[in-house]
Amino acid sequence: MRGTIDVVVGAQWGDEGKGRVVDALGARVDIFARYQGGANAGHTVIVDGKKYVFHLLPSGMLYSGKTCVIGNGVVIDPEQLLTELRELQAQGKDRATLVISGAAHVVMPYHKIIDRAQEGARGMGKKIGTTGRGIGPAYVDKYARCGIRVEDLLDEAVLREKLEQNLDEKNSLLMKLYDEEPLAFDEIFDLALSWGGALAPYVGDASLVIDEGLSEGRGVLMEGAQGTMLDIDHGTYPFVTSSSPVAGGGCVSLGVGPLSVSRVIGVVKAYCTRVGEGPFPTEDTGADGEMLRARGGEYGATTGRPRRCGWLDLAALRYAVRVNGISSIALTKLDVLSGLDGIPVCKAYELDGKRLDHFPTNAGFQQNIVPVYEHHEGWKTDIAPCRTFGELPAQARQYVEFIEKQTGIPVNLIGVGPDRSQTILRDF
Ligand code: IMP
Repeated sequence: MRGTIDVVVGAQWGDEGKGRVVDALGARVDIFARYQGGANAGHTVIVDGKKYVFHLLPSGMLYSGKTCVIGNGVVIDPEQLLTELRELQAQGKDRATLVISGAAHVVMPYHKIIDRAQEGARGMGKKIGTTGRGIGPAYVDKYARCGIRVEDLLDEAVLREKLEQNLDEKNSLLMKLYDEEPLAFDEIFDLALSWGGALAPYVGDASLVIDEGLSEGRGVLMEGAQGTMLDIDHGTYPFVTSSSPVAGGGCVSLGVGPLSVSRVIGVVKAYCTRVGEGPFPTEDTGADGEMLRARGGEYGATTGRPRRCGWLDLAALRYAVRVNGISSIALTKLDVLSGLDGIPVCKAYELDGKRLDHFPTNAGFQQNIVPVYEHHEGWKTDIAPCRTFGELPAQARQYVEFIEKQTGIPVNLIGVGPDRSQTILRDF
């Protein structure tokens, strides 16, 4: 029988805990495929009390006998990728086979400089709060059809020609617009060639590897980075990343037809967080928001920035269910809410005195909507030791059931603590 594909997608603003959901699925998956973004992401996986943070490698790298694929739609910072690989190798933990698509684009040193220069030049209220990892400028080059792809690093003549063209243009941009120093060709060329040499053993055809795996009955997991509300088409534009974290982005990046996907797992934090600027209707800028940040350890895995914190937004979640086709919810960090007297949950919004039941697509509306909250009774006991749904206090079960009722989607996984074992599975 042909294998199946699960997609794991962030249903909020990223940092939902996708890494641990991928980890929970791990044993059933043969091929882990990352489909978009780059080193802006940070997947944290805790195994046997040890914390691993990957920015580019798929989380499946910790499993022996598995295949990890980096798809065409990812932008690869080779420096970062090779560092992650070397660190795993040093610990003897590079257990999976890695395949990197030759068509994936490369984040070049000038992309990072332009990212930071552009962000610095944006005025008050216009800053996006990017991670500074060169993501936006690398995707700009991809769509402008002048980008350097991984396969180009393996061909000295092609690399030379493409880099010359790019550097002419980028140096002029850096000097004339941003008052930056020009970059020297030889230095970048030598560096890029050395990346090519180091990456060569891993370069392959992502779509073919996945298709062959499916033909052999293997299970495939498409790993999204960031989250729905940061999607370039469906997020809170322009305060978004430059790729397509939504589930459909997985098919495009990895060269897989949509009918091959059997399940879309939306990862949802029991409350909401956002790093960087942009609309966040349920943000709590007071003591409760600070409490969520402290308890949830809400600091960016990539930049260390404090995350903005607030309450679960079910109207935004229903939107995420719709644009991704989410068929299963994995709810993370429910334990962070333990001990609260009451938990506000947003069901709808108000805009100019009118009720809105759907998350609006209009950027101005997104800035101005006011959440309509329903208050849930909290629970006082520590839920970290719970391993079945029945062991949870009644109020925690009601909270989960309310999410299911509001979205029409089953909550099949509940995270009650940071360790791999602190997970409640319900027909997952
Ligand atoms: P960029 O992806 O670095 O261009 O940043 C664009 C926006 O996406 C900024 O608000 C970032 O904070 C946000 N962002 C990018 N990657 C992540 C992530 O992995 N988690 C959460 N936010 C992210």
